[in-house]
Order: sequence, then C-alpha cells, then structure tokens
Amino acid sequence: ISRRLGVRSIVLVGLMGAGKSTVGRRLAQKLGLPFRDADNEIEAAAGMSIPDIFAIHGEAHFRDGERRVIARLLQEGPMVLATGGGAFMNEETRVRVAENGISIWLRADLDVLMRRVRKRATRPLLQNPDPEGTMRQLMDKRHPVYAQANLTVESHEGPHDRVVAEIIKAL
Ligand code: S3P
Repeated sequence: ISRRLGVRSIVLVGLMGAGKSTVGRRLAQKLGLPFRDADNEIEAAAGMSIPDIFAIHGEAHFRDGERRVIARLLQEGPMVLATGGGAFMNEETRVRVAENGISIWLRADLDVLMRRVRKRATRPLLQNPDPEGTMRQLMDKRHPVYAQANLTVESHEGPHDRVVAEIIKAL
C-alpha cells in the first residue's frame, strides 16, 4: 500500500466524534506511517488548548492557525493526518489535501457522533444548551463538503478496528 500511496498522506476528515484520531492512530500503525493530529499540533504551536484559543482569540484566529498548521504538516511527507472537524471546510486546505494526499471522510450518524462527543467535553462548538441541534446544523452544512473527499467510509458504532480494516481494503 505505501508504494501505491507514494509520497501522499492519508487525511481523515469528518465531524467531531467521527473517530478521526482513534482510527487515524491505528491506521498509521498498520501502514507503518507516522500519525499526526492537527488539533494537537495547533495546541502545541499556540501553547494553549483549543478551548482557550477559541475563548481568548476567537474561532477565526483558530481557523487561521488550523489552515497554516495543516499546510505545514502536508509538507512533511507521507503520514496519516487526523484533521479537526472544520478543517476541510476551508477551500485552500481542500486544495492542499488534494495535492498531497488522499482524503477519507469518516461518516457517522447523529446518534453515534453524539454518544462519542459526550465522552469528552472539550469541543467549544458544542458548549451550548443544544449540542445535538448544533451537530445537526453542522451535518447539513458540512456533509456536502466532506462528500468531496476521495473516499467515504462509514464509521460504525463499536470497534474502530473494523473501520480501519475497511479503509485498508479501500485504499
Ligand atoms: C471543530 C472540531 C474539533 C476542533 C475544534 C473545532 C469543528 O476537532 O478542531 O473544536 O469545527 O468541528 P475534532 O473534530 O477532532 O473534535
């Protein structure tokens, strides 16, 4: 597979709770590629957590950092890259991903996403009285854009290894 991939990276996109980080880490292990998580890289570059970046500098500032960090990571050679849920909404990022990698949309149903995000209260976009309504709106807005990814893989409820196996089969 790595010969077929060449110097391209595998870039995972999809909503919060789609399993991008968990699936990405295991996929990287199986393929013998480095794994990077764009959210973690942004936090390291900013020296603060994502909730703090949102609270102190605002979402636009976060998006700007996200775009730059992903551009840098894509220059670093083949890897499995998990992106934050909003990253692929940026057109420049979509172009860079297309130039340097294969994009995979991890698609999941609303109830699956909600069950997973409830486990970790670290998403500023969901810190409101109606996180499920927010998620629904994000699905409406983002799904047509995620659908532009090279591959779509269903991120089922249950063990992530099944999803990893399906990606490897599809590559
Ligand atoms: C966001 C998703 C988060 C993080 C930030 C914004 C989004 O990443 O980048 O909270 O806009 O969907 P995950 O998808 O890894 O939760």
